[in-house]
Amino acid sequence: MSVHAAPRKRVTLGALAAKKDAGEPIVMVTAYDHPGAQIVEAAGVDVVLVGDSGAMTVLGYDSTVPVTVDEMLMLTKAVRRGLTAPLLVGDLPFGSYEASDGQAIATAQRFIKEADCDLVKIERGGTSVERARALVAAGIPVVGHVGLTPQTATALGGYRAQGRTAEAARAVIDDALALQDAGCSLLVVEAVPSEVTQALVPLLDIPVIGIGAGPDADGQVLVFHDLLGLYDGGAAKFVKRYAHLRTDAVAGVAAYAEEVRSGVYPAPEHSYSMPAEEAAQLREMTAAR
Ligand code: KIV
Repeated sequence: MSVHAAPRKRVTLGALAAKKDAGEPIVMVTAYDHPGAQIVEAAGVDVVLVGDSGAMTVLGYDSTVPVTVDEMLMLTKAVRRGLTAPLLVGDLPFGSYEASDGQAIATAQRFIKEADCDLVKIERGGTSVERARALVAAGIPVVGHVGLTPQTATALGGYRAQGRTAEAARAVIDDALALQDAGCSLLVVEAVPSEVTQALVPLLDIPVIGIGAGPDADGQVLVFHDLLGLYDGGAAKFVKRYAHLRTDAVAGVAAYAEEVRSGVYPAPEHSYSMPAEEAAQLREMTAAR
C-alpha cells in the first residue's frame, strides 16, 4: 500500500464530479481530531467528514443526538488543522438546523467561518430539503444524507436498514432527488439495500457516497474508529475492519504498565545524564545538607 508523502493538490467539488463521470470511486472517511486528520490526509482520501458519529466514538454519548454545536466545532477545528488536500465536511448536529432556514444558515456559517469547512451535511428529506435550499442560496455547499439517518433513528424504528420495500425505497429515492433539486453537491446514502443504490445512482447527477449501501455508489464512507477497530462496541453489518488498533493499543499500554511496575522502564537510553564532574559536585552538595 502506498501513502502520500508529498503534499497533494486540494480536492475540489469539480474533481469529485470528474471522478463520478469517470467511474472512479470517491473515498470519504470520518475524522474527529488532529492526529486522525493527519492519518487520513497521509492515506490520500478525497473527503473527510467530521461526523456527529464523533458524539459516540470520541465523546462517549449513547447516540448522536446530545452532541452540541460547540462540541462539534471543537472537533472540526482540530481536524481542519491537520488537513490540506481533502474536502472537509462539517456535520450539523441534531437540533441545530431543523427549526428554520435562519437557524440552519446561522449554524452552517459557524462551521464555515470558525472551522473552515468546505461543505456542511444535514440529515433527512422532508423539511431538510428546504433547509438545504436555503443554505445553498446563502452560498454554503451542502451534503444531503438519506436512508438511515441516525439523528432521527428513533422515528425510523431504530438503527436498521431503510428502503427494504419498493414503496420505502421510492421514498428514499424521492428524498434524494429533492435534495439534488435543492442544490446539494453530494449525497450520503446510509444502510439501504444495494438495489436501492443501483436504482438511485443513475437518476442523480451529483455523486452518491454510500455507507452500507452496496458497491454501486459513486464512493464509500466509513467511520474512522470502525474501520481501524478503535471502537469498543458492536459494529454494523457494513463495517469492515482494516486494522485492530484497540487491541494493539490495550496491549501497548499494558506492556508499559508492566515495565513501569517491574522497573524495566525507563532504561538508561530513555534518561538524561549530566557530566561526571557535575554529578560528583551535586552528590557533594546534597550530602552536605
Ligand atoms: O456522522 C457520521 O459519521 C455520518 C457518516 C456515517 C456518514 O453521518
